[in-house]
Amino acid sequence: MATCAFIVSLSAQSAAYEWRGCMIDVSRHFFSVDFLKKQIDAFQDIGINKLHLHLTDAAGWRLEIKRYPLLTSKAAWRTQEDWNKWWVNNDRRYASEFTPGAYGGYYTQEQMRDLVAYAADRGVEIVPEIEMPGHSEEVLATYPKLACNGIFDGQGDLCPSNDLTVQFMQNVLDEVMSIFPSPYIHIGGDEASMAAWEKCASCSQRKAELGIKSNQELQDHFVREMMQYVISKGRKPIAWDEALCEGLPKGSVIMVWRGLEKAQHAVDLGYDVILSPSAYCYLDYYQDAPIVEPYAFGTYLPLEQTYLLKDALIDSPHVLGVQGNLWTEFIPTGAHAEYMLYPRIIAIAEIGKAGKEIEPFKEFRFNTLHTLNQLSQNGYNTFDLRTEQGHRSESLVDIVNRASKGRVIYNQPMNETYPASGENALIDGKRGDWNHNDKRWQGFKGKNCLDVTVDLRKAIEISSVGMDFMQSDVAWIYLPSELTIALSADGKTYNEVANFKIVKRPSNRLFFQNLGWTGKQKARYIHIVASSPTPDDWIFLDEILVK
Ligand code: ACM
Ligand code: ZN
Repeated sequence: MATCAFIVSLSAQSAAYEWRGCMIDVSRHFFSVDFLKKQIDAFQDIGINKLHLHLTDAAGWRLEIKRYPLLTSKAAWRTQEDWNKWWVNNDRRYASEFTPGAYGGYYTQEQMRDLVAYAADRGVEIVPEIEMPGHSEEVLATYPKLACNGIFDGQGDLCPSNDLTVQFMQNVLDEVMSIFPSPYIHIGGDEASMAAWEKCASCSQRKAELGIKSNQELQDHFVREMMQYVISKGRKPIAWDEALCEGLPKGSVIMVWRGLEKAQHAVDLGYDVILSPSAYCYLDYYQDAPIVEPYAFGTYLPLEQTYLLKDALIDSPHVLGVQGNLWTEFIPTGAHAEYMLYPRIIAIAEIGKAGKEIEPFKEFRFNTLHTLNQLSQNGYNTFDLRTEQGHRSESLVDIVNRASKGRVIYNQPMNETYPASGENALIDGKRGDWNHNDKRWQGFKGKNCLDVTVDLRKAIEISSVGMDFMQSDVAWIYLPSELTIALSADGKTYNEVANFKIVKRPSNRLFFQNLGWTGKQKARYIHIVASSPTPDDWIFLDEILVK
């Protein structure tokens, strides 16, 4: 697929951003060199010029390091492929290449050098990422000396206070830098739990020596040390935005994956940034209706939402560019990976090329249909944009709700995290989309967490009270364990008309369940009480519909 490479390479010269990246997580699932080359071919044509490889994580170490052979003979292999069984069900064991049924793999240094050259010929740079200090269970399982107290107990943070850790990771980085000529070396830095550091003599001692108190400062110190090392070798270190703090060495780059306010903060501190905020750039999220799409991580993130990154760009010369990230917990095959990549990575490439001057979405979408057609003719398993279902149909039109002129009395306070649009959200006629955080779904947590009285302002004859509850396991959202509906004409005497008891049933798929009452009764007040299954679970509803 090199039909229009010439045109793209010309336009890329005048691209708005030098960084038009795609991250592929080859740890959670392993992808062959041939698969990566195939994506590089497509990247050349669509204008992606950085392939960031997330080479290490709990799920498997994927790069041959000659000095530490256990990283590939053991840490690259796990007992089972299925992410839910291995990770979610907490059966996290490592294996060896020769263990029957073992899943995994790694790239030899020779293979990676070949890939680097292949990519360079096509205008794509390979940027390696080695995770530290978090997300490192596979390292600790094989080299437990790097764990706090020298014991691997299942947690995934390296001990940042142990000289062995620093030496080990610097040795790894030496080999990494000998393979990958990119000016940029990614050192991870995200999501360390830091819990083990609390109970570690070396960490306590290191904190005392440095005159610091918190684990966050300890992480900052470690990250600074590793960034400095990369800089001392003439390269530029990149880290995820958890590493953002004052005093990073000059030349450090922050890759922003959470809110864009982190990018502004980094820019204000004088660091270069790459924008890959999850709300736009996480290509493992659902690209179409989650009720029909293959199981995915996270929420609904259609092509149009990725394209909206164009409006969120931060105006600063410190912004190197944009990047789409494909995490692969639930993406076991190359075909599935392509399905998640195309078309959304095309939107990232276009934003990287055109910046704010980009064409309107409608034109982009039209042109993308053509690009997707070309890609699929060339053997890529793209998402079929022509059959996109789009937003939850209920959310597209306001509904008539006989409660809409009434009011909602919160007998228990609204949960501050998910208030939706506030006190009227449950009767405003606006139904929710696929995402629980779209500000139309109201969320509650705990026993009798939802306890509201809808006051219709006068007693009227009603024939139904109904509400949709969402279940989304990835977000800990479940159907209520109990729901009662009671009606009253005078606000004093209530008549319970419905009671549901629901057993929590985890499911791999987002779904909605309508619960309610139908009948005929004169009522002014509707009292609704519901509980989430456990204090840690949520319940979410978008509307109490009265007819
Ligand atoms: C990340 O998603 N933890 C970078
Ligand atoms: Zn420690």
